[in-house]
Amino acid sequence: MSTLVVVGLQWGDEGKGKVVHALSRNADYVVRYQGGNNAGHTVIFDGRKFVLHLVPSGILEKGKKCIIGNGVVVDPEALIEEVNFLKKKGISVENRLFISDSAHVILPYHKILDGIREKVQNIGTTKKGIGPCYADKFSRTGIRMCDYLDKGMFNILIQKNLKEKSKILGSLKTYKIKKEIFKKYSAIANKIKKYVTDTSIIINKQISENKRVLFESAQGTLLDIDFGTYPYVTSSNPVSGAVCAGSGVGPTKIDSVMGIAKAYTTRVGEGPFPTELNDGVGAYLREKGQEFGATTGRPRRCGWFDAVSVRYSVRLNGCSSVVITKLDVLDNMKRIKICIGYRYNGKILKEFPASKRIIQEVKPVYIEMPGWKKSLKGITMFKNLPENAKKYIRKIEKLIGVRISMISNGRSKEETIKC
Ligand code: GDP
Ligand code: IMO
Ligand code: MG
Repeated sequence: MSTLVVVGLQWGDEGKGKVVHALSRNADYVVRYQGGNNAGHTVIFDGRKFVLHLVPSGILEKGKKCIIGNGVVVDPEALIEEVNFLKKKGISVENRLFISDSAHVILPYHKILDGIREKVQNIGTTKKGIGPCYADKFSRTGIRMCDYLDKGMFNILIQKNLKEKSKILGSLKTYKIKKEIFKKYSAIANKIKKYVTDTSIIINKQISENKRVLFESAQGTLLDIDFGTYPYVTSSNPVSGAVCAGSGVGPTKIDSVMGIAKAYTTRVGEGPFPTELNDGVGAYLREKGQEFGATTGRPRRCGWFDAVSVRYSVRLNGCSSVVITKLDVLDNMKRIKICIGYRYNGKILKEFPASKRIIQEVKPVYIEMPGWKKSLKGITMFKNLPENAKKYIRKIEKLIGVRISMISNGRSKEETIKC
């Protein structure tokens, strides 16, 4: 048995897509267990750029099979669009992509409701309908893949759902949505049907046959609905513990957990961000790191590496190792800062606080390290890194309390340094 969870340790966009792509050569199956098409996982492969939103990044590796687990929320239109995009690029998903029959379905009214709620809440969501779809799931009014494919059941559930939602949407809008759903969604259901199955059976069979299964998180721990900077979070649990409920495997079947963190920090959307840099350094990181959202194109907010929040994430996920990505983005920096504590009310906090008010008000306490002022291009072994880059990595390792097993120094899977 060999199962590995790859999980984001910051506010998403840590480079999970690149790392999962690099690791999927040694995997048989790659499984997504939460989130939806709010995710944007960029993979540079054969010089071409792929942005995957729903389909696991393993699909780009020949012969590997991929699963969209029950914990994911699936927008059928977005799924078909992604499948067609992959086909156009010469990547077939036939007999390689399986979708759980228990995954909840995102429908047009979820996206509209996301927009309406945003006007009040201002979380900076992706407006993909993620929150409203998970809300329906937990209020037990959601529509699962198996219901969506059952025409009679789908009709009943849509009528029920729209009756409730018409109170917010208005009757004319509800009428239009209903028409759109019945016109479009049965055609899409016919296209999706062949991928839908009980994916828990497949995953457990693979594990019992000692096949290698990779679990790919979307988002990151600081966006987790329980552990993130609530309410500026997503509506699912990216933490590794959610793999079990989101894919239908037991905790005894998980071997190891690999956390992914950038060598600095980014965040897209609203919410607290203690090490944010609203100056030239932040702008430099955004330009050099090409920090623009893969799903919405929004500029990402940038700041220094925050060892307090990453250590918190390492604990919550039970990380056995960590990968530091985008180290090359710091190549030209003269000095580099790392946040080692939060100043609050005359005290230094060493642990990440739950309170929205506190995390919004803390001031970072930094240590400063000299940069390496050299390109990391072409380096594949830790021993060949400039001394100051080695010191930076070793310092982070000490502060977050877990082994750094790999460094990423470029966008393609070859640009990886084993430690
Ligand atoms: P994900 O959501 O965690 O998969 O991350 P995204 O794909 O949204 O954002 C990461 C961005 O950084 C993508 O554009 C990647 O191509 C890029 N990237 C990943 N690793 C590295 C790296 O080591 N160096 C550089 N310069 N870019 C990287
Ligand atoms: P990947 O998988 C970065 C953010 C949104 C918003 C908040 C809630 O590419 O790392 P939602 O649409 O989920 O209700 O939005 O979460 N967000 C992400 N930020 N990377 C992501 O995914 C994200 N998915 C959601 O910007 O602040
Ligand atoms: Mg992303």
